[in-house]
Amino acid sequence: MKIIIAEDDKISNIVIANLLKKWGYEVVNFYDGREAWKYIQSAQPPFILLSDWMMPGFSGIDLIKKIKTREYENLIYRILLTAKNTVQDKIEGLEYGAQAFIKKPFDPSELKSQIKIGEKILNFESAQIEQNKKIQLYAEKMEKLAEERAKQLVHSDRIATIGLLSAGVAHEINNPTTFISGNVQIIKQYWPIIEKYLTSQIPNSAENRPKLEMIIEEMPEILNDIIDGVKRISKITASLRRYACNDTTRKSKANINNSLDRSLELVNNKLKYNINIVKNYTLEINKTMINENEIEQVFINIFINAADAMGKSGGDIVITTRNNEEYIEILIEDSGPGFKNNDVKKIFIPFFTTKEPGKGTGLGMSISQKIISEHNGKIMAENCEKGGARFRILLPIRN
Ligand SMILES: Nc1ncnc2c1ncn2[C@@H]1O[C@H](COP(=O)(O)OP(=O)(O)OP(=O)(O)O)[C@@H](O)[C@H]1O
Ligand SMILES: [Mg+2]
Repeated sequence: MKIIIAEDDKISNIVIANLLKKWGYEVVNFYDGREAWKYIQSAQPPFILLSDWMMPGFSGIDLIKKIKTREYENLIYRILLTAKNTVQDKIEGLEYGAQAFIKKPFDPSELKSQIKIGEKILNFESAQIEQNKKIQLYAEKMEKLAEERAKQLVHSDRIATIGLLSAGVAHEINNPTTFISGNVQIIKQYWPIIEKYLTSQIPNSAENRPKLEMIIEEMPEILNDIIDGVKRISKITASLRRYACNDTTRKSKANINNSLDRSLELVNNKLKYNINIVKNYTLEINKTMINENEIEQVFINIFINAADAMGKSGGDIVITTRNNEEYIEILIEDSGPGFKNNDVKKIFIPFFTTKEPGKGTGLGMSISQKIISEHNGKIMAENCEKGGARFRILLPIRN
């Protein structure tokens, strides 16, 4: 511990300094209050100030008053050396900011015990300041965390609302879609009869005969387009309803490698011409509790996206399965162009799509994320080092 002495009486100053050094303290001594103050301003607290009360020009009281105005005041223990010894004197000294008094001529044992008390108080104050800093840091961290959590909550609340609204809309759209689909199928079925009848009914002399004939001829194609359109609407409404529904109850024991193979079979039509599938199945867990249909839906979404991303030129899809003690890991990498710019941050947001209108609803990945999180797992996306997209799925072994 450092002790600063301010004492104009040279002999007392040296005697005190020598004693303190003998007791193992680091001592800096000044014969003038002003010099001592200059030093204190740049010295690193904590330290003890041992100052004579009465000094010409800049007294011990002046020193203490200056220190009182500084924020590190608590880290400088202030002892006044004084011949003044009445209660009134002490009250006055305390009011100015002194914390202890040593009467002159001084008794070494009193000096030692006052210094010891000062040392203890300073150690306590330093520990307190350290503790406060830690609490402050912790509080700031907690505040940040709370802010982040609040943002996440608002975000997931918004997504849940979108889900609910979409499910409602999907339900409303579903009924009329069913009528259109049923009726158009009936028209298609009876079209050959209608066509024959209509053709025979057009008089040879009819002015718009060529136009009518053209309409009749194109009708099968028009009907097919309607059927395709209706199918697309049904697919979208089914996705929306799936997004809003919350069914993880139908879990059973299944093998993830088999689920991957079944999903590949289901999208075989889309992959068979120009996509090469590489399987690194090193999974050691034979069965896991999952909702197989839902998990297969996730794989299908990823495979279709990969095929879409690679386009006509095709490429590779590399599938790796492995596990540690807690998790099964499924990696699906493609050799397409990968995610552009900041898209990777948005792909799990409902309705985010970069596909042309009519091609993607932007629900595939958000549904997949929902399914995986309902299995207490995680799904992450990133670009591979050598290009292409990589999806990493973690599923807990004990679900
Ligand atoms: N393998 C991939 N490579 C590059 N981009 C991808 C890949 N997978 C997904 N994406 C990007 O993520 C977006 C969102 O994918 P998501 O499956 O949610 O919707 P979508 O495929 O556009 O439509 P939907 O799946 O509903 O038909 C895609 O439009 C695409 O921009
Ligand atoms: Mg998709």
